[in-house]
Amino acid sequence: MNNVIMEVNDEIALVTINRPKSLNALNSETLAELDQCFDEISTRKDIKVLILTGSGQKAFVAGADISEMVNATPAEGRQMGMLAKQAFLKLETMPQVTIAAVNGYALGGGCEISMACDIRIASDNARFGQPETGLGILPGFGGTQRLARLIGKGRAKELIFTCDQIEAQEAYRIGLANKVVPQDELIDTCKKMAAKIISKGSYAISLAKEAINTGMDTDLSSGLTLEADLFGLSFSTHDKTEGMTAFLEKRKADLTDF
Ligand code: CAA
Repeated sequence: MNNVIMEVNDEIALVTINRPKSLNALNSETLAELDQCFDEISTRKDIKVLILTGSGQKAFVAGADISEMVNATPAEGRQMGMLAKQAFLKLETMPQVTIAAVNGYALGGGCEISMACDIRIASDNARFGQPETGLGILPGFGGTQRLARLIGKGRAKELIFTCDQIEAQEAYRIGLANKVVPQDELIDTCKKMAAKIISKGSYAISLAKEAINTGMDTDLSSGLTLEADLFGLSFSTHDKTEGMTAFLEKRKADLTDF
């Protein structure tokens, strides 16, 4: 791969978008590489958490690649949007937990890919925004859909209509970032959170993720039924027997299902 680096250690895949000269902007080649990378990770049992970041100290991802889009036809624009839809849905629905380590600008497609992750940890220099309408386009990699679901319709509309960039603390205040940490502690903080998540039941976490994701897009009663079904399914696992027996025997559980 030319623009994406993946390193796997301790059941964590650290995926770095690596186009520092254009602040890690997402061109079609990078989107295709991310799609391939997410396909691979989703089938690997030795990876429990994915941490997604951008190379360098300045940007997570500064958006879709404007130099590619400037001469693109409507059909090419749609194709790019559909490629991002496919890749970001894989990121959003993979059984592994995904954490965006937002290490600087997360603008346009950068904010959008971070929102396809389960959790966003921001460095103190991070800035989030959807500047597309200033370029004469609208967010095309999920911004009109995921931002409203995450922070509410009113705030999402304000950010998209004004193109305002918000700092990490403001992103934290409105629920776009889960946590803000000094930049030099960002990856360590994400790895510590990953280790805590890995110590729990990975299969149970993947079921909880499915229940939350599906439930957010359906009515409450259907979401509760899905939850009851998955709750029941979790009773079929080794981890359920081991987790509860270990509790009653006052020892640490050895949870292995995934
Ligand atoms: N696409 C292509 N190249 C980009 C880029 C992008 N989104 N963002 C930055 N770059 C390039 C710049 O053109 C520049 O390249 P050169 O050195 O060859 O001139 C290099 O990265 C460094 O950028 P700047 O010199 O602009 O750095 P800065 O510190 O002055 O500003 C910035 C940083 C505020 C992030 C600014 O680069 C910027 O505003 N970038 C564009 C942000 C943007 O509009 N993103 C949305 C894109 S549209 C989109 O994402 C659609 C969608 O929904 C999918």
